Amino acid sequence: MRLSTSHIASLLLLSLLLMSCRGQLSEKPPISPQQNMQFQNRFNAQEQNEFFANNMAMRPPVEGTIARGKLRQNSELYQGRDENGNFVTEIPFELTQSFLYRGKERYDIYCTPCHGKTGDGQGIIMTGQYGYVPAPSYHRQASYDMPDGQFYSAITEGIRSMPAYNTQIKVEDRWAIVAYIRALQESRNVPREELEEYNVDIAQLETEYQALKERQEALAEERAAGAGEEEISAERGQQLYTANACQTCHSLDGTRLVGPSFAGLYGSERQFADGSSAVADEDYISNSIINPGSNVVEGYNNVMPPYNYLSDGEIQSLVEFIKAQSDN
Ligand code: HEC
Ligand code: HEC
Repeated sequence: MRLSTSHIASLLLLSLLLMSCRGQLSEKPPISPQQNMQFQNRFNAQEQNEFFANNMAMRPPVEGTIARGKLRQNSELYQGRDENGNFVTEIPFELTQSFLYRGKERYDIYCTPCHGKTGDGQGIIMTGQYGYVPAPSYHRQASYDMPDGQFYSAITEGIRSMPAYNTQIKVEDRWAIVAYIRALQESRNVPREELEEYNVDIAQLETEYQALKERQEALAEERAAGAGEEEISAERGQQLYTANACQTCHSLDGTRLVGPSFAGLYGSERQFADGSSAVADEDYISNSIINPGSNVVEGYNNVMPPYNYLSDGEIQSLVEFIKAQSDN
């Protein structure tokens, strides 16, 4: 067979093509015959550039300008506060069923590990073994009185030891979560005669409630029976102090954190926000742990979560531990 010039040319081209398909990785940029401005000189983020007086290639935005999509002028929508900085009392979205369901979905994803499915603060972190500050229940008067904007702000900016969720949750979804928390709160406070208007099986609810109550009573009895054998000591109290994250709010060296220091607390005179006062004896301290809202120490906020899941022996051990902080 005679090879024509065109045959040779196509064979050559074919072998070139095959050579470039050997399945090897190449560090070099691919050959692109049509360059089209693909390769240009540019600066990487954080790179130096001596052209500018401060040697930084990255330029700050011109003063007074805002990037597209970053104008967040509506403080009620974005911060949950009005122009005077007060929390808004209304959700700036229409409360439709789909909005609420969206809120439920987001709530279940982001909030339940700590705040629990029903908002009672019994999420998985509450088992005590994780050493995280317990999340307070939404079914407290303080939470019922909290304006919508404050819930929104807790998600957006975080609150005390709770981190912010603004990078994970979009603005509209944050408001949807607030709406769902409100629904959770409402759901606990429906009068019996109103219940009949809803499509719920009241008899079934009552059976479930009865079963729950019986379980709780049995648990309480079990605890009471075991209480005699439970160890009560300052050492155990010290472990509980860390395991239940008391140290995030109460120091042992007199430093003021979110709550008062335990140093010198036992036996001292306590002043309360309502003007009354009391001496910090054992009863006062155990009551402060189980029922923190009952006496709010002057100069502090009513933010301590109730530790009513601790056993008597555990509370007594914490009291012993706190007493020991007044010995030195
Ligand atoms: C990792 C656990 C955790 C997650 C997840 C979490 N929280 Fe919290 N939250 C807490 C803790 C702990 C506190 C109490 C903080 C404190 O007092 O220091 C708290 C406090 C709050 C408060 C203030 C309650 C009060 O009565 O003072 C609100 C409101 C709140 N959370 C809303 C939310 C919402 C809404 C979500 C979901 C988007 C969420 N939290 C997710 C742990 C969590
Ligand atoms: C989220 C922060 C926080 C956590 C966690 C916390 N507390 Fe508190 N606690 C406070 C604040 C704030 C006060 C003062 C306001 C009040 O009296 O409710 C307080 C008050 C008290 C008081 C009364 C103090 C006084 O000066 O009279 C005792 C006792 C106490 N806490 C014990 C505990 C124990 C024990 C733990 C852990 C099992 C704990 N607290 C966890 C915030 C917290």
